[in-house]
Amino acid sequence: MVKTIEWTPEGVVMIDQTRLPTEETYVTCKNYLEVAGAIRGMIIRGAPAIGVAAAMGVAIGIQQAASEDLDARMEEICSVLAGTRPTAVNLFWAIERMKRRYRELRSVGASVTAIRNELVTEAERVLEEDIAINQSIGRHGAELLPANAQVMTHCNAGALATGGYGTALGVIRAAIESGNSVSVLANETRPFLQGARLTVWELQQDSIPVTLLTDNMAGHLLHSGKVSAVVVGADRIAGNGDVANKIGTYPVAVLAKENGVPFYVAAPISTLDLSLASGEDIPIEERNPAEVTELQGVAVAPPGTTAMHPAFDVTPNRYVSAIITEHGVARAPYVESLRKLASGRTNAAS
Ligand code: MRU
Repeated sequence: MVKTIEWTPEGVVMIDQTRLPTEETYVTCKNYLEVAGAIRGMIIRGAPAIGVAAAMGVAIGIQQAASEDLDARMEEICSVLAGTRPTAVNLFWAIERMKRRYRELRSVGASVTAIRNELVTEAERVLEEDIAINQSIGRHGAELLPANAQVMTHCNAGALATGGYGTALGVIRAAIESGNSVSVLANETRPFLQGARLTVWELQQDSIPVTLLTDNMAGHLLHSGKVSAVVVGADRIAGNGDVANKIGTYPVAVLAKENGVPFYVAAPISTLDLSLASGEDIPIEERNPAEVTELQGVAVAPPGTTAMHPAFDVTPNRYVSAIITEHGVARAPYVESLRKLASGRTNAAS
């Protein structure tokens, strides 16, 4: 399976997701500003992967910070990384985790060298844990799929979007590992084409059968009776189960419900934001409209076209059949089931 991100002595190495599938190249971020730039520029993307990158960004920043003003530098590094992308809550979760570890080390009087080493260890732990979490999400989700399932997915919630294995694609991987012959319908995911460029590429690497659709074909396919389930990832899930995910997820969810197809969201507990009562409060990233008027740098609209680019949408909880986490599967009413799962209790509502 592809390695999305790795800590190395030379820096934080990431597969460059802006260049896939035509080129498999790797970028080495040599300082925290380069890590922040890689997150902002989508070299690395996907909520859990952004979290891992941020943790490694903090670690590399502290490696290079002057020992005299470490507290101030820690604040600055965290604030730059937190300013990269607003919607995926895993970014803020990971930064908070690194801050907590830093405070612990400070409070016991750890040396600067020990702090530097320990923050690297913590960032590597975030990566390792993420892979294990995704495998657990996969096991829970695989049980929801019928035999020979044809699964529609939107965007890329795979190994590339996480430390490895994936959330939505982790469910598919786990189902296949358990002997189910699953095939995938990948929505292309305009405008950044995460579905066409990344999901198709990633699944092909593992020889998982995948068919590409343009986004406007989803309704036709969902109506055809050929889709067993939709499985997507999430960038932030509010306390009531409203789900922010890649733009275009909401119409897929509505069409799934209209056609009686289950719509599942696969995400780690770190994607839950129980401080928000509903999806109304989730900040939606607005990206450069040039990503809409151009496809991979080639204009697809007349010069001077006004375009908009909300990068995410919010799917109201009534369209969500279940939320699959590493602690188990939550179903409505989500206010109760998500809290139960977040507090670490397994086998929540089914
Ligand atoms: O803009 P992106 O590519 O970072 O958006 C990614 C998504 O919307 C994913 O579906 C989500 O982060 C879940 S990834 C496991």
